[in-house]
Parts: sequence; C-alpha cells; structure tokens
Amino acid sequence: MAIIKKFRIKSFKKNETLLELKNISKSFGDRKILENISLKVNRGEILGLLGPNGAGKSTIFNLITGLIKPEYGKILFGTKDATEFPIYMRTKEFKIGYVPQYGGYFSDLTAYENLKAIAQILIKDQREQNSKIEYLISKFELDYVRNIKSSYLSGGQKKKLVIALALLGDPKILLLDECFAALDVLTIQMLQKIIVNLQTEERIGIIICDHQARDLLSCVDVAMILSNCKIIAQGTPKELVNNIEARNAYFGDTFKIN
Ligand SMILES: Nc1ncnc2c1ncn2[C@@H]1O[C@H](COP(=O)(O)OP(=O)(O)O)[C@@H](O)[C@H]1O
Ligand SMILES: [Mg+2]
Repeated sequence: MAIIKKFRIKSFKKNETLLELKNISKSFGDRKILENISLKVNRGEILGLLGPNGAGKSTIFNLITGLIKPEYGKILFGTKDATEFPIYMRTKEFKIGYVPQYGGYFSDLTAYENLKAIAQILIKDQREQNSKIEYLISKFELDYVRNIKSSYLSGGQKKKLVIALALLGDPKILLLDECFAALDVLTIQMLQKIIVNLQTEERIGIIICDHQARDLLSCVDVAMILSNCKIIAQGTPKELVNNIEARNAYFGDTFKIN
C-alpha cells in the first residue's frame, strides 16, 4: 500500500467536478437497488466504490455510461445535465471511458487489431490513429504481444489492453469495474501503478469499484461503501477503515490497512 500511496497527488480538491450523481434511485422491477445515491468525481481524483456482490456498483457504472436510466435523480457532466443523454454522446462528447469487469475486447483480433478497430472509430486522422496506438502499446508494454490473438493474452495483458482501448478516446473520466478481480498480486500492483500514473500524468478522474477492499484502498484518494441501496460511509481510506458503520457493515473487526 505504501508504495502506491507515494505516487498519489492531493491537488484534486481545488479542481473542477467532472461528474456528479445527484440523488439517484434505481429499481429493477420491484427490487430497489439504489436509493438516493449522490457522489462527485473531480479532475485528477480517484474514487473507490466498495460494496458486497450485488450491492449495485456496476449498476452505478451503467447509469453513468447511459446503458440504463435512473427513476429519480440527475447525472451531471461538469455543469451539464446528462441524465437523458444517449450512450454515444456520453462516450464521444463527454469522454467517459469504460473498462467492464469482463471482456471489452474482440477475442479473435490481435491486441494491435483491437486498438486499430477502435481507433478507426474514434480518431479521424490516420497518422494520429497510428501514433496513439503506438503510444498506448509502449505505455502499457504490449509490444511483445501486439500480434497475438487477444483470447491468448494473460489476464493482466487483457486488462491492460482494455484500459488502452478505453484511453483511445482520451477520456476525462475512466470507469474501472472490478479491474483487480482474478489477477495475481504482482499484476494487481502493476495495474495500481498504471491507474495512479493515469491520475498523475493525464489528470483524468477515475472511479474504481470492487467488492474487496484491500487492493482498492491502496490506490484511491477517497472511497465510499455501498450497502443495502445506500452509501453507508465515505472518506479517505484511513477514515473509512476507522468508520464504525463501515466496520460493522462491511470491513469486520479485524480489517487493517498499513
Ligand atoms: N438489468 C438488470 N435487470 C434486473 N436486475 C439487475 C439488472 N442489473 C443488475 N441487476 C440486479 O441489481 C443488483 C445489483 O447488481 P450490480 O450492480 O451488478 O451489483 P455489483 O456490481 O455491486 O455486484 C443485483 O441484485 C443484480 O442482480
Ligand atoms: Mg459488478
């Protein structure tokens, strides 16, 4: 945890809000999933969203990308009300990048072909397409697997590829859904460094969700815990771990961070 924390920057507080969810409620049929959820992400801030399986974390991402609509509440991009905006507008105009928990790439295409396919949609100029692709291949050390069919890549390489695909559109906000799941410790550390680097170098806002606290809390600035449709606690990782409600409902008695 300490290694990751060193890279963190604290200046996001002074900066503009990129994304805001205001009093969002969402049900599926009679089942309430989210009730009166509000959150904000500033430029250059990494926000962690924790909660047990089924708490509604991916639902929040689906609301942000526009895959589903809330029954109540507003979604703001900057100061613009984006609640009714279609998916393509959120991606292209408001620059939301999304890394889903599973998939997110064409498994029959090579790493390079995946990048090329998405670049052709998002970037007009061919030279710009190529330079962006080469920049991302080098940034994520994918050169030695560029011509390998994506289905044969390791879990970590796949994740790096999908993050690279999301970055082709120069997102202002990047959503990472359970990006550490099913990866080994070293790969998780590599991804944490990549995420913190994105914050520092690209100054984008990032939301990461996970059902496990430890890996997530090592690389976020602030986090919130979602449980029983509500945000039951929020704050810095340290504040959260010491929050009595969070301990009772989520961390348990023995959970510690370094
Ligand atoms: N499109 C949908 N239709 C019906 N129920 C859904 C749909 N999407 C999610 N759910 C339900 O909403 C709850 C929250 O799901 P999800 O947001 O995926 O949880 P998490 O990502 O926190 O594990 C789950 O009980 C899930 O079954
Ligand atoms: Mg999920």
